[in-house]
Amino acid sequence: MTKNVLVLPGDGIGPEIVTEAVKVLGTLNLDIEIDSALIGGAAVDITGNPLPEETLVKARAADAILLGAVGGPKWDANPMEQRPEKGLLGIRSQLELFANLRPAILYPQLAEASTLKPEVVSGLDILIVRELTGGIYFGQPRGIRTLENGEREGYNTYVYSESEIRRIGRQAFEAAQKRGKRLCSIDKSNVLEVTVLWKEVMEELAKDYPDVELTHMLVDNAAMQLVRAPKQFDVMVTGNMFGDILSDAAAMLTGSIGMLPSASLDENGKGMYEPCHGSAPDIAGQGKANPLATILSVAMMLRYSLNELAAADRIEQAVEKVLDQGLRTADIMSEGCTLVSTEEMGEAVVAAL
Ligand code: IPM
Ligand code: MG
Repeated sequence: MTKNVLVLPGDGIGPEIVTEAVKVLGTLNLDIEIDSALIGGAAVDITGNPLPEETLVKARAADAILLGAVGGPKWDANPMEQRPEKGLLGIRSQLELFANLRPAILYPQLAEASTLKPEVVSGLDILIVRELTGGIYFGQPRGIRTLENGEREGYNTYVYSESEIRRIGRQAFEAAQKRGKRLCSIDKSNVLEVTVLWKEVMEELAKDYPDVELTHMLVDNAAMQLVRAPKQFDVMVTGNMFGDILSDAAAMLTGSIGMLPSASLDENGKGMYEPCHGSAPDIAGQGKANPLATILSVAMMLRYSLNELAAADRIEQAVEKVLDQGLRTADIMSEGCTLVSTEEMGEAVVAAL
């Protein structure tokens, strides 16, 4: 049966990297139909809405979604509702894509590109499981209000229900079962009640997964441990905001955030796939962006939503091959390698396939 993939290029480098990823997908000769739609600033410019209804309708109907990136200085002064990021948060929330999987793998070919010592990062293979549709990103009430004394006050609400914690916890335990069987839950339970509950629910769940070793770590320590001795981790599970922050830190361990794919899944395995990096407006349109994170996101899409495991393996092997050939975009460039453009990198992956 034909599968439908919706492509959302978005803003900044989004269109360039998605073009290369779609080329790679097209090379595989699978029975996949590709449609595209607007999101983010590109959607604001044309429709006034960062998540037009038409996009949402297409997204609901698709088997999987591939997203580039959203955001840029052009829209930074817009009111909250007309900011590109609202489009991204909206689609995550509307489709209930609560489970965000962010693997951080160091390709041996890139050990030099990391800012950390090779012995600290070589062989790194961790998975961050980030809750994506709750926590302080979505908690109500929120806003900026004026107090009686005329002073303004900004406020957000950090809230998680038991069921929200349980469903992301299950995803994390199941992911750990398929890997090193170690799960570290990240919280701030020395200060925040919401994460006291988080920790308790994780402990309860652990009884259902006796083969997984559960540990807990405070988020400030986790940030430190990630740059001190990252290989101590197998799977990390955490809430929306801590996961946002820790996954950027983890990304840099691998040399460049330009290498990291991600999957955002709902309860039934439907998903949206996107690079972990942003829209990089400073290099947009210059052919400098690294398309590999988006290409690797296609591999995750084939594996998690389209049940094309062999094709997913082939993409990952092709990426290894171009790295072996010494091809590098600027973000991962090192001595003795060949600097290539976004398009050249995409073509090289296609050729390796
Ligand atoms: C991410 C991004 C988004 C987030 C932004 C663009 C809203 O940083 O996917 O990590 O904070 O979730
Ligand atoms: Mg982020």
